[in-house]
Amino acid sequence: MTAGPSVAQIERDAAAAIAAATSTAALAAVQAEVLGRRSALARAHRALADLDPEARRAAGKALHEARERLDALAERRRSELAARERAAALERDRLDLTEVTEDEVRSVVRRGRLHLVDQTRRELEDVFVAMGFVVAEGPEAETDWYNFEALNIPPAHPARSMWDTFYLDLGQPETVVLRTHTSPVQVHLLEEQRPPVHAVIPGRCYRRETADARHLPVFHQMEGLVVDRGISFADLAGTIETFTTAFFGPDIHSRLRPGYFPFTEPSAEVEVTCTICRGSGCRTCSGTGWVELAGCGMVDPAVFDAVGVDPQEWTGFAFGFGIDRCAQMRHEIADMRVLAGNDVRFLRQF
Ligand code: FA5
Repeated sequence: MTAGPSVAQIERDAAAAIAAATSTAALAAVQAEVLGRRSALARAHRALADLDPEARRAAGKALHEARERLDALAERRRSELAARERAAALERDRLDLTEVTEDEVRSVVRRGRLHLVDQTRRELEDVFVAMGFVVAEGPEAETDWYNFEALNIPPAHPARSMWDTFYLDLGQPETVVLRTHTSPVQVHLLEEQRPPVHAVIPGRCYRRETADARHLPVFHQMEGLVVDRGISFADLAGTIETFTTAFFGPDIHSRLRPGYFPFTEPSAEVEVTCTICRGSGCRTCSGTGWVELAGCGMVDPAVFDAVGVDPQEWTGFAFGFGIDRCAQMRHEIADMRVLAGNDVRFLRQF
């Protein structure tokens, strides 16, 4: 071989250039330079022709081994750089949601929320659960017996006119109704469990009524039933007072007025000062300054008889709050019909 860099020197230089390449493109250029036709390695190869056969064989072998090692080194470096470039590309293309602020998300995504009536039902449940009540439920389609008869309202009783009823057409005329109130669940509960009972029962009710500022044909009630030994009207009044203060705050005035329900005796109605006019009288409260929220009273012994509970041993009280009415007064909604509409501009406020 003529004077020139040794094979070892050529290999060292080439290996250093390969290791120094920082991208697959740079490596390809380095490979052409140190392994290609114009490389020192190729020149050394061409120079083999000038050597005598024995020296040619030895130098040729050394060159061949050096090229094999350099090829392998270049391939390792290439796959290393390719993996690094793939990872960098993935990182670049990743959708980084953490860089989007909550406000930006809100501007494109409208988050849903519970309807005001559902929010109110949950709040009412929370207040009563804190007072030691359990939450129960009952069916929306009832037989005439549960909705009326077991509640001391026999057929043709004049009190039936208090509840204008939807009947379901199930073959037998007028025997299955959409419940007009949640009171039939009192009967289910007392059938299913012996006293003591301390329960609230929220649910949907149906009446053939024209919607107006305080009424909807489909609305919600929260029934309450307490049956225990020695329960008195004072317990009922105390429970109502505790509830209205917890739910409406101390500034709202509530009162109990004598009322009539066939399934309670004595009976009362719970009223609050109209929050729309602060008691001066308006369209919402029909000019009275008061809005009725609930009916209530001491459980009539006739109801205990219907379910086989001994009225000598047990006494109890019951109440039925209008959930929509509570939401209406709490949020000062002049006309309840907006609760049944689906205007998101209204609903989004709550
Ligand atoms: C009853 O339904 C009785 N079951 C309440 C009761 C339960 C009395 C337990 C005694 C013992 P009333 O029809 O008054 O009573 O309705 C009770 C409450 O439901 C009303 O005060 C009102 O807040 C609400 N309510 C009644 N009808 C409607 C309606 N159409 N739309 C919205 N809320 C209503």
